[in-house]
Amino acid sequence: MKGIVLAGGTGTRLYPLTIATSKQLLPVFSKPMVYYPLSVLMMAGIRDICVITTPSDQDAFKRLLGNGSSFGVNLSYVVQSTPGGLAQAFVIAENFIASDRCALVLGDNIFYGSNLTELLKRASSEDNGATVFAYHVDNPSDYGVVVLDSYGCPTEIEEKPAVPRSHLAVTGLYFFDETVVERAKGLTPSSRGELEITDLNRTYLAEGSLNVVPLDRGFAWLDTGTYESMLQASNFVEAIEKRQGVMISCLEEIAYISGWIDSQSLAWSGAKMGNTLYGRYLLRLAEEGCKGAADER
Ligand code: TTP
Repeated sequence: MKGIVLAGGTGTRLYPLTIATSKQLLPVFSKPMVYYPLSVLMMAGIRDICVITTPSDQDAFKRLLGNGSSFGVNLSYVVQSTPGGLAQAFVIAENFIASDRCALVLGDNIFYGSNLTELLKRASSEDNGATVFAYHVDNPSDYGVVVLDSYGCPTEIEEKPAVPRSHLAVTGLYFFDETVVERAKGLTPSSRGELEITDLNRTYLAEGSLNVVPLDRGFAWLDTGTYESMLQASNFVEAIEKRQGVMISCLEEIAYISGWIDSQSLAWSGAKMGNTLYGRYLLRLAEEGCKGAADER
């Protein structure tokens, strides 16, 4: 399975923070925002990953993430010339996806929870259809909203409804089978001129092949599109990292636990980060191993 991190967009709600740089490069406590969604794909076991950026920000992402080898993945880069919607990712990354299945994660979404890795592995091992995750929110009108029947099967899905029929928002993480590119190419732009991910999901719903996995209240799903939500996300990450002494979304750690890099590589990355929380953490893992952290997941 391939993976895409969608890290374009305009970030207008964060102006002036995002006038000169990409939203997904801004800090969320100890690391750039894009680390969090990237870590989700890695936890799903995905190693071929395409990062989609605006044309002007691509170089900065390359400087930050390189070819992915320091955290055991193969990264490629594609630009989205204008923000044409989330489902456009599958059209512009067609060559990268080839005839594979593909996951998509939004570059400003943070997921954290105790059996997340297991849920991700299960979703990525599904051969047919689509899997999305639903999360109970207070403000469903800001999201794609899904309605489930008494068996937990989706009956409808609507983009930013004025009068939402449930409180279940569809999160920014999607797993699709190998028909996704053709489906995305067949979509018509919405009234706001975008290829909508909700319309893509609807094509699976219509065939009875949309699987919706509810994330319970033990999970944190944070988005970081506004000043307040960015600060809340930073505070959340700081609270967990300081209290538990483990990092959220440390890419090198995930790679090491997965057996994609060795302790030497971990130590090298740690030395490169210098005397920072992140650098010291990597050096400690390289010395002690990740056993404790792995057990936590
Ligand atoms: P949004 O938060 O909907 O849009 P945005 O990031 O441009 O921000 P704002 O509303 O403040 O202008 O996007 C969600 C995520 O998807 C975010 O990571 C940016 C990304 N995105 C793209 O990469 N391309 C697109 O065409 C769209 C619509 C979003």
